Parts: sequence; structure tokens; C-alpha cells
Amino acid sequence: MARSKSSSAWLREHVEDPYVQRAVREGYRARSAYKLLEILEKDRLVRSGMRVLDLGAAPGSWSQVVAPLVGSQGQVLATDILEMQPLTGVGFLQGDFREESVVQSLVNMLSGHRADLVLSDMSPNISGTAAVDQARSMHLCELALELAVQVLRPGGAMLVKVFQGEGSDTFRKSMAAVFPLLKTRKPKASRPRSSEIYLLGLDKRL
Ligand SMILES: C[S@@+](CC[C@H](N)C(=O)[O-])C[C@H]1O[C@@H](n2cnc3c(N)ncnc32)[C@H](O)[C@@H]1O
Repeated sequence: MARSKSSSAWLREHVEDPYVQRAVREGYRARSAYKLLEILEKDRLVRSGMRVLDLGAAPGSWSQVVAPLVGSQGQVLATDILEMQPLTGVGFLQGDFREESVVQSLVNMLSGHRADLVLSDMSPNISGTAAVDQARSMHLCELALELAVQVLRPGGAMLVKVFQGEGSDTFRKSMAAVFPLLKTRKPKASRPRSSEIYLLGLDKRL
């Protein structure tokens, strides 16, 4: 079957993307590794011994970045609706984060410990209807924030991907109520045409 013009263009852009090429060279499973690496370079969020949750983790490049930084004294718990190939030092739970039982299983995996950092790079499958996709995305952000409120230690941090649009300002306010320090990050590896930004909440209130 002939490839449509738009899928050929996407494939060409993907293959020529310097971050894709770099990810292949450096052994990262996705180009998104460079978004997190740039943020970490600036914000130094991860240290040895930390407990980190990675929501929407597949194929696993963020976990690949974080696991060596937290080291054997730390813990990385990753979750995704999709399968993820195992990674050394990363506990993985496959499930739909919108289901309460999945969130509860993740909490149980912390064995009563508080987390230091919650990462969420979750983005829903694109339906093609912008308003539906935006609503689904904001719902995942809200669920991630609920979990952060529940499991983060006071002083902990959260980094979450947000698509700017309907609901994103309200979500920013919800985050500001939990994190007195709130920053916006748009790393270079995040395509300029994408409405995607990352909100970084620091110093979680008691
Ligand atoms: C952009 S990808 C994450 C890439 C990842 N940070 C990495 O560096 O490899 C977004 C992920 O969110 C996941 N996702 C979307 N909806 C989800 C849901 N309801 N529950 C759990 N994961 C979900 C997708 O399956 C996808 O793997």
C-alpha cells in the first residue's frame, strides 16, 4: 500500500530529527530523553537515593535517564498503559492510570514510603478531535497531580507535561496551590510547533 504524503513527511522528519539520531547513538529509547536531560541540567531535580515515579513511562527513556542518577539506594517506579521492556533499577507496572486500582497498586509499590519526585510525560492516544484530546490530556494531568499530593513528601517536586489550551490555566492554578514554586519549561527537544510545555512544581507544601 502506498504511504500517504503526510505519513512519508512524518517519517522523513522523524529520521532526520537530530534528537532521534542522537537517541539512537546514545542508546535512549526515545528522543524525549533530551527534554528531561535539559530540564535536569537546569533544575537538578534528581539525586542519589531518591524515590521517583515516572508516569506514562513507555518506551522508557525518562526512566533510563533517572535510574542511574538515583542509583541503587534510590527507587524508580514507572507505569504506562503500554508494555515497557525491562530496565535495570526500574520497577514497572502496566495499567491505565485512569483506573483507581492502578493508582492504588502504584502507591502500594512505594511500601509506605513517600516519593521525592513525580514525573508525568503522559499524553493520551490522539483521537484527531482536538477538544477531546485536550480534555483527555488535562484529565491525566489532574490525576497525576492527585497522586503527587498523596505520595510526595513535603518539599518534593513534580514535573508534568501539559498541552496549553482549554483547562491548562486552571490546572496551573491547581499546581500553584500545591507547589509554592512553579516554573514553566520548554526544552529545545520539545518541538516549537507543539503546544506542549512542562510545569515544574517545587517545594511541595506540607
Ligand atoms: C510521550 S509518551 C512518554 C515517553 C516517555 N517519557 C519516554 O521518555 O520514553 C506518553 C505515554 O503516555 C502513556 N499513556 C497515555 N495514556 C495513558 C494512561 N491512561 N495510563 C497510562 N499511561 C498512559 C502512553 O502510552 C505513552 O507511552
